[in-house]
Amino acid sequence: MQQIERVGFIGWRGMVGSVLLDRMRAEDDFTGLTPRFYSTSQVGLPAPDIGVDAPALADAFDIADLAQNQAIVTCQGGAYTKAVLPKLRAAGWDGFWIDAASAKRMDDDSIIILDPVNRHVIDQALQDGVRNYIGGNCTVSLMLMGLGGLFDANLVEWMSTMTYQAASGAGAKAMRELVGQMRDLGQAGSASLDNPASAILELDRTITQTLRSGELDTAAFGAPLAASVLPWIDSEMDDGATREEWKGHVEANKILRTTTEIPVDGLCVRVGAMRCHAQAVTIKLKKDLPLDEIEELLRAANPWVRFVPNDKASTLAGLTPTAASGTLDIPVGRLRKLRMGPDYITAFTVGDQLLWGAAEPLRRMLRILREH
Ligand code: HSE
Repeated sequence: MQQIERVGFIGWRGMVGSVLLDRMRAEDDFTGLTPRFYSTSQVGLPAPDIGVDAPALADAFDIADLAQNQAIVTCQGGAYTKAVLPKLRAAGWDGFWIDAASAKRMDDDSIIILDPVNRHVIDQALQDGVRNYIGGNCTVSLMLMGLGGLFDANLVEWMSTMTYQAASGAGAKAMRELVGQMRDLGQAGSASLDNPASAILELDRTITQTLRSGELDTAAFGAPLAASVLPWIDSEMDDGATREEWKGHVEANKILRTTTEIPVDGLCVRVGAMRCHAQAVTIKLKKDLPLDEIEELLRAANPWVRFVPNDKASTLAGLTPTAASGTLDIPVGRLRKLRMGPDYITAFTVGDQLLWGAAEPLRRMLRILREH
């Protein structure tokens, strides 16, 4: 394959794009690249400082300019993908399109990328001439990074995932909204808090009244998230599931390229974490296996799994969004058998939604292209 050098970046200023650039800088990924940065609004301004020379920002809608790249990495969102990719292809561009958005994920001419979990699928797609490499839904990617060992061993008959999804999954504004709500609640409750003699039910009443007052900023979530949970993420599907819940099944099966579909289903819930998604899973195994063997499979799946022993101190220290935030670690813990039977297990896993959930699979795909 031709050496990949000319790479275009779109949407690099947003939250996922910024994390991507940080990771690429940290891994010295820009050395040997001729990067070109695009903008939808600031054409002509200087490119970001990435340690190698890059020309001024080019127009993200200039098809002829984009077509000079051998690969394009976009974190600009699905509307951009839909507007630009068909035009690029119609113009004869046969470069590699690496995309964080969901727009093209389920198309037949795309694969969902999650190296190392589906490196074999990626390698096969490269051989087959696939040109579109799309990052997966964050919850799905994080689940497979944590529990991939059980899928690799063909042990999963079905899986139910109950998620605890961070504000970052809804975007940067949503994160600000969450912390703003926390501040407003803190201010509302501060007089009661400062008076240790005040009745706890008074503090509770104040907080509940504030939550129901209609005065909190809820533009992003549609309801207060701080001091609450929101059991609805994304749009409604026909069967009562949300789109986020639907993605769990279709994307996990596409990522793993299963020949017989493995049912993955559950309920997705937004919680007041900043950028780490967590999920509690129930797994029906195809056979009864001792817990130490299950632990070994989980640990061996990839270098980022951090197995957390099933005790309180280890769990509180290592199996929380607080512990995982800003790291590539994928803690997996609370592993135990359920009373439903010896082949039913539960586990809990956490991961940074912006790293393995979004930016890291794109970064690794670009590396694979360059090393291919
Ligand atoms: N849809 C996810 C969420 C984020 O809302 O948390 C992106 O995969």
